[in-house]
Amino acid sequence: MSEQSIIDMRGETALRDRRRRPLRDLRISVMDRCNFRCPYCMPEDKYHEHFQFLSSSERLSFDEIFRLARLFVSVGVEKLRITGGEPLLRPELTDLIGDLAGIAGIDDIALTTNGILLAQHAAALKAAGLSRVTVSLDSLDDEVFRRMSGGRGSKDRVLEGIHEAVEAGLVPIKINTVVKRGVNEDSVLPLVEHFRGSGVIVRFIEYMDVGTINHWRRSDTVPSAELLQRISARWPVEPVKPDYHGEVASRYRFVDGGGEIGFISSVSEPFCGSCTRARLSSDGQLFTCLFASSGIDLKTPMRAGASDEELLALIGRSWNAREDRYSELRAERGGGEKVEMYYIGG
Ligand code: GTP
Ligand code: 5AD
Ligand code: SF4
Ligand code: SF4
Repeated sequence: MSEQSIIDMRGETALRDRRRRPLRDLRISVMDRCNFRCPYCMPEDKYHEHFQFLSSSERLSFDEIFRLARLFVSVGVEKLRITGGEPLLRPELTDLIGDLAGIAGIDDIALTTNGILLAQHAAALKAAGLSRVTVSLDSLDDEVFRRMSGGRGSKDRVLEGIHEAVEAGLVPIKINTVVKRGVNEDSVLPLVEHFRGSGVIVRFIEYMDVGTINHWRRSDTVPSAELLQRISARWPVEPVKPDYHGEVASRYRFVDGGGEIGFISSVSEPFCGSCTRARLSSDGQLFTCLFASSGIDLKTPMRAGASDEELLALIGRSWNAREDRYSELRAERGGGEKVEMYYIGG
C-alpha cells in the first residue's frame, strides 16, 4: 500500500471502539528485558538470571514493527511511544526510530526509559527523529532509589541521562515517579524542588495493580490529591488545561512561574472514558488495555504471509470490539489474570 493511500484511508476508516473511543496512540514495546528489577514491576525473585525472556527471533523485527506501525497510522494513530522493559536495551534502536519518523501522519514519537543508558544514546536518538523522552525516576535519595529499582542503577546516571536529553533537545522531558506509600513518599518534595524551574516536568503516578506479581494493596497507593496538597502548601499551583483530549496526566503550574507538574491518577480518578491507547508487545501481541488478560496475535499471521488488508482486519476487529475500562471497574473486578507491565511497557 502506498504512503498516500494509507493517509487517505485515515479520515474514512478511523477506528472506533464500542464506547466510541478512537484509536490514536500506539505504544510499542521493543524489548521485554530490563536492567532494573523494580519490585512493583519485575521483582528479582521471579525475574532472576534463569528467567526465560523472549529470544531475538521471537521479538518483532524492525521491518515488522515498521509495517504494523504504518497500518496503525492508516486507521487513525498519530502518536507513537516506544517502551520496554527497557527500550534502550534493544540493539540499534535508532534505526527503528529513523524508520518510524519517516512515516507520514506521525506527529509525535516519544520514548519511555529508566534513563540508565540515555546519556550515551540521546544525541543519536534525536538525530534519528525521536521527538522527546520520558524518564522514570522514583527518588533522588540513593537508598530509596535503589529500593525502588531493585538495587540496580544509580540516580546520578539517570540525572546524567536527563541532562544529555535536554542538551540533545528531546523536549519537553517528563519524569515519571511512581509513588508507593511508606517507600518513596518523602521523595516527592525533593523531586519537585530539584526540577522546578528547569523545564523538566515531573509527573507523579499512583501506584497501580498492573500485572499479578506486585501484590498491590490499595493502601500502597498515595492518592494524587494528597500529594497535590503537600506540594501546593509549599509552592502554590494552579490547574492547567489539558494539552490534548484524553491526556493521561492532570497538569498544574507553579504560580511563581517555576514550571509545571502532573499527576497520573488511574486509581483515584480513572481516565478510561478518553482512552485512545493500544499496546503492542515486543512479540507482536496487540492489547487494548493496560490491564488486559490477553491480546491478539499479529506476529503469527504476519509471519505466515498475511496481507496488509488481513492484518488491518484483525486490528479493526480487535479495536471495534473493545469495551475496556478496567480502572473504572477496578473496585468490582480486582485480581484475576492480567498481562505484566514490563511486557507491554506501561
Ligand atoms: P504524554 O502525555 O504523551 O507525554 O504521555 P503519557 O502521559 O501517556 O505518559 P506515559 O506514557 O509516560 O505514561 C505515564 C504512565 O501513566 C504510564 O507509565 C502508566 O503508568 C500510566 N498510564 C499511561 N497510559 C495509561 C492508561 O491507558 N491506563 C492506565 N491505567 N495508566 C496509564
Ligand atoms: N504502578 C504505576 N506505575 C508503574 N510503572 C511500572 N509499574 C507501575 C505500577 N505498578 C511505571 C514505571 C514507569 C512507567 C513505564 O510505568 O515506573 O515510569
Ligand atoms: Fe524496568 Fe521500568 Fe519495570 Fe522498572 S518499571 S523494572 S525500569 S520496565
Ligand atoms: Fe485505558 Fe485500560 Fe487504562 Fe482504562 S485502564 S485508561 S481502558 S488502558
